Amino acid sequence: MRVLASAPAKIILFGEHSVVYGKPAIAAAIDLRTYVRAEFNKNGRIRIEAKDIRTPGLTVSFSEDQIYFETDYGKAAEVLSYVREAINLVMEETGKQKGVTVSITSQIPVGAGLGSSAAVAVATIGAVSKLLDLELSNAEIAKLGHKVELLVQGASSGIDPTVSAVGGFLYYQNGSFESLPVVELPIVVGYTGSSGSTKELVTKVRKSFNEMPEIIDPILSSMGKVVEKAREIILAEYNKEIKFELLGRLMNINHGLLDALGVSTKSLSDLVYASREAGALGAKITGAGGGGCMYTLAPGKQSEVATAIKIAGGMPMVTKISREGLRIEDIVQ
Ligand code: PMV
Repeated sequence: MRVLASAPAKIILFGEHSVVYGKPAIAAAIDLRTYVRAEFNKNGRIRIEAKDIRTPGLTVSFSEDQIYFETDYGKAAEVLSYVREAINLVMEETGKQKGVTVSITSQIPVGAGLGSSAAVAVATIGAVSKLLDLELSNAEIAKLGHKVELLVQGASSGIDPTVSAVGGFLYYQNGSFESLPVVELPIVVGYTGSSGSTKELVTKVRKSFNEMPEIIDPILSSMGKVVEKAREIILAEYNKEIKFELLGRLMNINHGLLDALGVSTKSLSDLVYASREAGALGAKITGAGGGGCMYTLAPGKQSEVATAIKIAGGMPMVTKISREGLRIEDIVQ
């Protein structure tokens, strides 16, 4: 028997960093997916094959008639530890130890703040549990995905595996989640090609907060209010134009507040301004900042904005919101 499962990437639409201080955040699944194929093998071992995972920093060098490819094996190895823990957890749940081969292909760049680790964990849990005939709901798979993150990285809010397993829009505050109605957002994600360390950036904001609470606290509160306003807009039946225009303005405000916290970089801001000049209604960092990704809201202007991102030195990804989270793509008996 062979099972193919897939799980989507996520972006934080509003509220990164302020969410660490108990404010709400809104995240969404996007249509970039990690695919995991699981099948039984005869040698009784767990085997993991990473066929095509997008790790940053691929270098190609030439000498005489030789071509050398180098990639960041540290990042690739990190991905595999999520897969291993995911398989272990499913086997523990079933009480069965079997030889399983898992192969991974992914459209989600690793280390870009798009939730690639959570997606690979969720897709692995989905594929292996189906293979072992263990019935799990997507909410249960989200919980196991959160457990995998805790085992591998020590701390996690659980927002990434939940969005990846459940799909759509998620409003999050202090560990509780609420699914919001899905609004089709014409977005473009821009990847700077480098990655920031979430841990270091969270520490940097904490330091400013401790040193100047009277200045940082109002910024975090404003961010919380931006999220509440965005939630109202998503829940309300505004006509499309007003909704996009207002959401775009809120994105720009949220970006300015993140910049004030010191988590933007020149390359992130270059992509943000290039997108706005190319006609995006809003553009902001998504995730921790310090590198990684930004996203734009660009109704009717997605290809212009994608070109502007490319010219400004980024990698554009024209994508849409994914209503579906974990998906079983194929089962071969
Ligand atoms: O690194 P990312 O893209 O998953 O984003 C982290 C979001 C933060 O709010 C900065 C940290 C957190 O734990 O919520």
